[in-house]
Amino acid sequence: MSRVIDVPGSADFESCHDELNEFRRDVLAGLNKPQKQIQSKYFYDEHGSELFNQITRHPDYYLTQCEIEILNNCKNRLARLLGSHPFNLVELGPGEGIKTQLLINEFLHESLNFNYLPIDISKKYLYMIINDFREKQPRLKLTPLHADYFRGLEWLRKNSQNRNLILFLGSSIGNFDPVITLEFLHHLCNSLNPGDYVFLGFDLRKNVDVLMSAYDDIDGITRDFNLNLLKRINRELNADFNIEKFGHYATYNVYTGAMESYLISMEPQIVTIEALEKSFSFDSIEPIHVEYSHKYLPSQIDQLAQETGFVIVDKFTDSRNYFMDTLWQVKEQK
Ligand SMILES: C[S@@+](CC[C@H](N)C(=O)[O-])C[C@H]1O[C@@H](n2cnc3c(N)ncnc32)[C@H](O)[C@@H]1O
Repeated sequence: MSRVIDVPGSADFESCHDELNEFRRDVLAGLNKPQKQIQSKYFYDEHGSELFNQITRHPDYYLTQCEIEILNNCKNRLARLLGSHPFNLVELGPGEGIKTQLLINEFLHESLNFNYLPIDISKKYLYMIINDFREKQPRLKLTPLHADYFRGLEWLRKNSQNRNLILFLGSSIGNFDPVITLEFLHHLCNSLNPGDYVFLGFDLRKNVDVLMSAYDDIDGITRDFNLNLLKRINRELNADFNIEKFGHYATYNVYTGAMESYLISMEPQIVTIEALEKSFSFDSIEPIHVEYSHKYLPSQIDQLAQETGFVIVDKFTDSRNYFMDTLWQVKEQK
């Protein structure tokens, strides 16, 4: 029976108490900046995770449908590539893992010898995966790791010699700014062994109207998802954000190619966060930056592989050319 492994040495994630400390530290640092900011990784409390699941099913949010189409088209190619040797299917930030099920079903169908290791900071998501797979795929070898991406990969390095296929789906990589993206990919490459594979999702540049609808859907689910961050601070850090006095604003930066999401104070106000023993003043129409979602040109994706130690093995796009999943391999000589 699967159980969630609290990765040893992953002090930040061993207990709720430490998670709360980190949340407190990051909110303080973010709201003290001249341009206020809260990191998007804090979206995923219990309610935030539920709202994100609803977003991925919304017709305006094309990303999930595109990636499902791609995975259905390339799952057999991946199964053939991995062949009969034992391997680890490692997923960074799986969320509820619905897309991964397509690959797992194919790999089990082809009788491949693998262990699935989802790595997530959200225990709620990991338990969801355990329950779901126990019911649908009781044969699956499953080792859920409750950890930050790289702590999880460190644990894996110490505990398995098998070849790895790392999945980083959705457009999670687009949430990093360009400098952090390069650091992340270098770090990923150095955490793996030569010959390991990574399968990465990149959202491509496209008509701005399509982007705007995806990040500000007609039913207001994305708005609620973003505002839930303030509710989380109210609940966990004992704050008094009045949600009615904040709005959600999404915009596309034509120069950087990033969708940017903000929470905007609709009037001058003061908010007190008791856990920080501090009050923060907001001007009218002052933003809190909460998310970047970078969109890529195919040439930029190739360049990222070349600059960070990977060889490009294959690329897959959907029929509308909205999204690209790329398969890279760690160079034999790093
Ligand atoms: C946007 S969801 C993506 C879910 C899924 N990959 C998809 O394509 O729909 C981001 C997921 O990554 C997790 N996550 C975010 N930052 C993380 C980190 N630094 N380490 C581990 N998991 C993280 C979140 O808890 C959540 O499950």
